Amino acid sequence: MPSQKIDGFLTHWRTSGPADGKPVLLFHAFPLSSEAFAPQLDAAPPGIRYICPDHRGFGGSALRPGVATMEELARDGLRVLDTLNIGTAVVGGVSMGGYAAMALLRLDPSRVKGLVLMDTQAGADDAAANERREAMAADLEKNGIGGLVAMLPKLIAADSKPFLRARVEAMIRATNPAAAAAATRGMGQREDSRELLQRFGGPALVIVGEKDEITPVAKANELAALLSGVKPVVVVPGVGHLANLEAPGVVNEALAGFLTGLA
Ligand code: MLT
Repeated sequence: MPSQKIDGFLTHWRTSGPADGKPVLLFHAFPLSSEAFAPQLDAAPPGIRYICPDHRGFGGSALRPGVATMEELARDGLRVLDTLNIGTAVVGGVSMGGYAAMALLRLDPSRVKGLVLMDTQAGADDAAANERREAMAADLEKNGIGGLVAMLPKLIAADSKPFLRARVEAMIRATNPAAAAAATRGMGQREDSRELLQRFGGPALVIVGEKDEITPVAKANELAALLSGVKPVVVVPGVGHLANLEAPGVVNEALAGFLTGLA
């Protein structure tokens, strides 16, 4: 899988599909890596080229200094597209990855051909959520990644298969605590994207796990109601916040229908 120094920082991404396929940039959730898109990368629809970067400090990408704001993650995504000589792409992500996709839309709407927003939300954090983020960042810096393993029950449905649980836990434990702290603070600083989504007239796909506790179905419906180009929200039965990993068949089918239908 490609790794390249971009502006002096090692940047890693996973990709699948033909080099001349329609580009689809997908940002992963917190606190995982692009490995979380393995079920999508393994089943790219015909003519679709998936490009899934590791956020700064996650997976194989080097940490860059400072708070990893959603805008910075979006810039990193644009750097990857630039490196691949890609002008426009469908842009999307899961949860924090969705925040990064919305930040990219804010930075440069001319690069966005469509949106794929999975298990995410349009609003910003309130003061209480921001305090919790700061406490989490401080804990990561002091005690390492262990505290984040406690997120696991919120990430996947309670009756998920043990191998999936083990796989997600391994991804969390592999995360650099400094990168997780930087991204936690970045999520806390993210802007409200509701007006931005209302202005976006392009095609959009919204997917959510039926049992998502972090960004529940109500949030997905709220988000979809802002988008003029959205089809009905795809609610994935029986799964939680990581619908793309928990029910790859359903999510891949929704992605294939949406992406291959785009002009
Ligand atoms: C994620 O799954 O990416 C994060 O939990 C999202 C968040 O904390 O807002």
